[in-house]
Amino acid sequence: MLVSEIIKKQMEETGWIRRMFEEGIRLRKIYGDENVYDFSLGNPDIEPPEQLIRVLIDILKNPIPGMHRYMPNNGYEEVRSQIAEYLKTRYDMPFTKDHVYMSSGSAGGLNILLKSMLNVGDEVIVPKPYFMEFKYYIESHGGIIKTVSTDKAFQLDVDKIASAITKNTKAILINSPNNPTGVVYKEEKLKELARLLNEHREKGKKIYLICDDAYRKIVFDNIQLPNVFKIYDLVISVTSHSKDLALPGERIGYIAVSPKIKGAQEIIDASIFANRILGFINAPALMQRIVAQFQKNSVDIADYQKKRDAIYNILKDSGYNVIKPEGAFYIFPESPIEDDIEFIRHLQRFHILAVPGTGFGRKGYFRLAYCVEMDIIERSAKYFKEAIENL
Ligand SMILES: Cc1ncc(COP(=O)(O)O)c(C=O)c1O
Repeated sequence: MLVSEIIKKQMEETGWIRRMFEEGIRLRKIYGDENVYDFSLGNPDIEPPEQLIRVLIDILKNPIPGMHRYMPNNGYEEVRSQIAEYLKTRYDMPFTKDHVYMSSGSAGGLNILLKSMLNVGDEVIVPKPYFMEFKYYIESHGGIIKTVSTDKAFQLDVDKIASAITKNTKAILINSPNNPTGVVYKEEKLKELARLLNEHREKGKKIYLICDDAYRKIVFDNIQLPNVFKIYDLVISVTSHSKDLALPGERIGYIAVSPKIKGAQEIIDASIFANRILGFINAPALMQRIVAQFQKNSVDIADYQKKRDAIYNILKDSGYNVIKPEGAFYIFPESPIEDDIEFIRHLQRFHILAVPGTGFGRKGYFRLAYCVEMDIIERSAKYFKEAIENL
């Protein structure tokens, strides 16, 4: 067989994504784009900030000699310094350029990091529901994913995490604000987790906390994200500008290693090697120069908050059980019937495309990505109501 058995199996596991995608195409062909309510993809419908485009044009008009050449694999030194300055202020920690590693988005960053950290058989604990790619990233680098349920409010269940820790646990991978729930993990839960991990550390076992911070700037109601770098020492954050600057196609983000990790240079050196052999080589050159100047900026968060309010109210008013998201651009209602895959099919009859919770490791729920035009959200209200009334 031409295709590897592992990839074949992984593709089969995720085959429902392809089927859903095909169903979307079919519905669009029959009913037209404007009559399909597609909440299936986390692909922002907005443009990057105008100022960012102006800076991009300016760079292209005034090229710096060598700006398209190879560079150090961890990124331009001046870019890493600029980002470190930002991180220093934001987290009140002594970040330097040596703690920052430019990556091809958060997906690139996570893969580099996991490749650098994992021995075959090392375990990574992931609270679920979770972004399904994590499993495949971990498995690609010889690791084993151990998923652990969050509580009813989708908050960390530290007792469950404690029970999942074994001698092979290398890291815990969290994502907050969370895809698919939109939940922000609470400070007291993170502190409880830190206490647990510190107990292990005192006994000589280091467990790293990897934070996928892809949505860290998309938070609502003036909520302040807990400063994880102050809560626990062994933190590595992987972030992205796909969402906060609406640049997913440009593949840009970075890894930030806590200055409290002794031997941070070791993981950076390993990442340099991993980056090369994974074939990313370095993060896109042009985008590095751009995002270095936009660390304090983001797309219009108020716009996402309005959409969050609209979709939340539509679901509530129609009778769905749902937790109000505090960030990202996803909402994760309970499926009105036990079988979430069956419910997704039912929604399709009303031209609504969504993703079953099963795909995120949590049966009985479904995910809606509301990074779509407000008009789509508003017009979908009638159909969400009809769908629940006609079960
Ligand atoms: C939780 C999470 N992590 C990582 C990614 C990948 O983002 P990037 O485009 O930065 O690679 C996504 C994309 O949707 C995501 O939801």
